Amino acid sequence: MKSHDVCVVGAGYVGLVTGACLAEIGHRVVCVDSDPRKLKSLKAGKIPIHEPGLDALFRRVVRSGRLSFASSVEEGIRYKGRRAAVVFIAVGTPPRADGSADLSSVEAVAETVARHMSGYTVIVDKSTVPVETGDWVSKTIQRFNKTGVPYDVVSNPEFLSEGSAVKDFMKPDRVVLGVSSKRAEILMREIYAPLKATVLVTDLKSAELIKHASNSFLATKISYINAVSSLCEKVGADVKMVAQGMGLDRRIGPLFLNAGIGFGGFCFPKDLEAFYWISRQKGYDFKLLKSVQEVNERQLSWVSRKIEEKLWNLEGKTVAVLGLTFKPNTDDMRFAPSIQVVAGLRERGVKVRAFDPVSMERARALPAFKGVHFAKNEYDAIKGCDALAVVTEWPQFKSLDLRRAKKLMRTAVLLDGRNIFDPAKARALGFDYAGVGRP
Ligand SMILES: NC(=O)c1ccc[n+]([C@@H]2O[C@H](COP(=O)([O-])OP(=O)(O)OC[C@H]3O[C@@H](n4cnc5c(N)ncnc54)[C@H](O)[C@@H]3O)[C@@H](O)[C@H]2O)c1
Repeated sequence: MKSHDVCVVGAGYVGLVTGACLAEIGHRVVCVDSDPRKLKSLKAGKIPIHEPGLDALFRRVVRSGRLSFASSVEEGIRYKGRRAAVVFIAVGTPPRADGSADLSSVEAVAETVARHMSGYTVIVDKSTVPVETGDWVSKTIQRFNKTGVPYDVVSNPEFLSEGSAVKDFMKPDRVVLGVSSKRAEILMREIYAPLKATVLVTDLKSAELIKHASNSFLATKISYINAVSSLCEKVGADVKMVAQGMGLDRRIGPLFLNAGIGFGGFCFPKDLEAFYWISRQKGYDFKLLKSVQEVNERQLSWVSRKIEEKLWNLEGKTVAVLGLTFKPNTDDMRFAPSIQVVAGLRERGVKVRAFDPVSMERARALPAFKGVHFAKNEYDAIKGCDALAVVTEWPQFKSLDLRRAKKLMRTAVLLDGRNIFDPAKARALGFDYAGVGRP
């Protein structure tokens, strides 16, 4: 196996996992981040995010000397005399107010790489970006590459999911390489060779579109089953059975067919919006994506709507909210549905007692959680409440002792926003139960 010197710019959920995993498979990696606090923590041997399996992997590769950290791109691409052959851009691409992706960090990194690279360099876009970003990155590098150093730009979108990021990186369904030269393709194939993964080589624009199209498709699948769940609620059918019946069809598959209170997180909402925006800018009105967003917006108000149906007057009543992160096994609170759920409850004068296994500190810092009581554990959250709402399906909530919970509650109203309980069992215990799309 051929190992390479690699620089990863942006040491967040994607960059840090990418850097640590590339080091694990034998490359020498330097991660760069502009956030001094994050960098300090990483240099002290502490990872600033919660990601299963990352801690042990991180310690191993740091100890082996294959993963290091630098505070600037200049230092990162020539670290201790070694020149990075490949520079991954893994910085954030957050949404602008108009829905487009803010690519200013991508541009800033491209400019700095161009100013400091000193031999053939492959600049890889790993951040999720709209189609044609590769062309802009290339143009930027050309402008600031005053000495004519040879380079190539590659699009290598990342498909990992938070909560299983290390596994996803190490055993990917596919590695997509959008390239414009054979030289870059050979180098990128060498980078990923140890994974023995299926590699799909495309042109730059197709690779960029694969990422936006994939995320938007997954979001569409979720909104589709959520729309079906609304109909189930109207006619008294069970969306879980409907989803099971659909998922057994191999052309459909069972994944991403769990009805719930809507999707959030740093990827689906913004990627859907950015995909719509770029399509429109290019002259195609991708209306389907708007419908996907509308279904999701409605779904995010499920808890507030159900609570009104169940509790009549809401002012002064107390609701326990279990789970705050946008999904289990991560500490990521960005665009988490809990933010909208809690805001909806607070607007109606409801007192909120919240619990999450890992993200209490992050939640406490958000304005939407002002006035929320943060409980010690799930049973403490439930104490004295008029209703319990499950917002994130952390595994420990699935084994909640419902008998014990009922005794702690003022009134036994259970809003199962992720369909983790058996409605018949909950009702047999005396709960007034509502699940998403369940009779
Ligand atoms: N989080 C995911 O699950 C996921 C999955 C696939 C793709 N993506 C995409 O990957 C990209 C990064 O996402 P993330 O979740 O890792 O974000 P993040 O916010 O966790 O990480 C981005 C990091 O980049 C750093 N940064 C920003 N500008 C910089 C600069 N000029 N120089 C050096 N460092 C800089 C930030 O300090 C931050 O630590 C986004 O485009 C996202 O859409 C994310």
